[in-house]
Amino acid sequence: MSALDDKTMGELREIAGRYPEKRSGLLPMLHLVQSAQGKVTPEAIEACAEILEISAAEVSGVATFYTMYKRHGVGDFHVGVCTNTLCAVMGGDQIFERLKQHLEIGNDEVADKRQGDQYSVSLEHVECNAACDYAPVVMVNWEFMDNQTPEGAVQMVESLRAGHDVRSTRGPKLCTWREAERVLAGFPDGRVDEGPSAGPASLAGLEIARERGWTAPHVPAPGAIAPTPSKESAVAEADTSRAESETIDESSSADESAAEKREAQ
Ligand code: FES
Repeated sequence: MSALDDKTMGELREIAGRYPEKRSGLLPMLHLVQSAQGKVTPEAIEACAEILEISAAEVSGVATFYTMYKRHGVGDFHVGVCTNTLCAVMGGDQIFERLKQHLEIGNDEVADKRQGDQYSVSLEHVECNAACDYAPVVMVNWEFMDNQTPEGAVQMVESLRAGHDVRSTRGPKLCTWREAERVLAGFPDGRVDEGPSAGPASLAGLEIARERGWTAPHVPAPGAIAPTPSKESAVAEADTSRAESETIDESSSADESAAEKREAQ
């Protein structure tokens, strides 16, 4: 793999310059190199280290820690099947097995392009995507495909291979891996508002709370200073306390008189 081109190097410096501590730019920088080269190459690790003035080992430590960074190539469409608990019991395991069988590949592998295919597809089983309300969930280049079935997932990958338009259930039309990685690096493609983002299943709890007038309790943040009461509320509070103490005084006087009467009898 050749070194990064001048345009990519300039954009890497641009990302680093967005942050007060430039090393904070490492995550989007790694997405950018994946957009440029399809994976995180040794040359890209060296380039990021040089720009951020940290060691290559530190960059490599980050790139190998997060599963979104790939040290080997993936397909134009990287298909992640959630096989975490809820998706697994709802059919995620069957979807993953069906796709492995259909694509004739194992986990973390790329299916060969066949004659007539426009795009390649890779497959990976992924952990919970925090989309359990739409289980079983499949992700394509990090976009959600909700409520999948084994046969539906097969049809989807065939459409992707053939170059047909496929929309995410709650997002935009699916773009290629490299295009998606560029967006994750902080270079928008102008399609952020495509798709509903939040679907009915995610909003069900909110609807119930609105119907019943439920609100979240106010919990002050740790160390937060309690708000200073307004003059009116302080006066009202003082009046309430005075009234309460007078009521207590009256009842204790009544108790004392009753006790005195009993002693006199
Ligand atoms: S278990 Fe699959 S999205 Fe949560």
